[in-house]
Amino acid sequence: MNRKRVGILISGRGSNMAALIEAAKDKSFPAEIVLVASNVADAGGLATARAASIATEAVEHSAFGKDRAAFERALQAALEKHRIELVCLAGFMRLLSGDFVNRWPERLINIHPALLPAFKGLDTHKRALESGAKVHGATVHFVVAEMDAGPVIMQGAVVVRAGDDEAALAARVLTVEHRIYPQALKLVAQGRVRVVDGHCLIDGKPVPDSASLVPSA
Ligand code: GRF
Repeated sequence: MNRKRVGILISGRGSNMAALIEAAKDKSFPAEIVLVASNVADAGGLATARAASIATEAVEHSAFGKDRAAFERALQAALEKHRIELVCLAGFMRLLSGDFVNRWPERLINIHPALLPAFKGLDTHKRALESGAKVHGATVHFVVAEMDAGPVIMQGAVVVRAGDDEAALAARVLTVEHRIYPQALKLVAQGRVRVVDGHCLIDGKPVPDSASLVPSA
């Protein structure tokens, strides 16, 4: 099997990255994680990646001042150096320009801690609680130039419990993230996901087949 070469971009602790690395340890997984790159040189996830014998690169946005294009060129160069075929954003806290994103059509994936299109952006758990939403969750989607707006590949939902605070809800959603991100990457790496009219089809079928409710989470 020709496993897809995956690069993961992180900015922090990298628990989703770790979940992808864990899944890809299985030789039958259709993707291998060959690079973890971060815009933060001391991101905790880089140490985790190194401990798993995965190549790492620090491409610090701060080194490029306000020149986002130069930062993205450096990022692109790192991805090309490692012959990356698919990119997974996993807590990568920089917005990527259309120029960058358009180089990776249907090959750039993100995980967002909310059920998109609800709660784009930051502080999703706090906003979900404030909204009175009864169901919350996480979304894996292809990245497009508009933030948190690309075609949904997979979602996982949790019930919002009475008495939940932000930390409790975040922890349960994170469990779901760790479960759906490897599943979504697997489908994409297998070439089973297609975007038609802005929506993902999996094996030619509409995406509700890829929703999961995790009642225990
Ligand atoms: C996750 O909640 C992810 O959905 C969001 O940023 C967080 C990153 O956490 N994009 P981790 O670094 O994967 O632990």
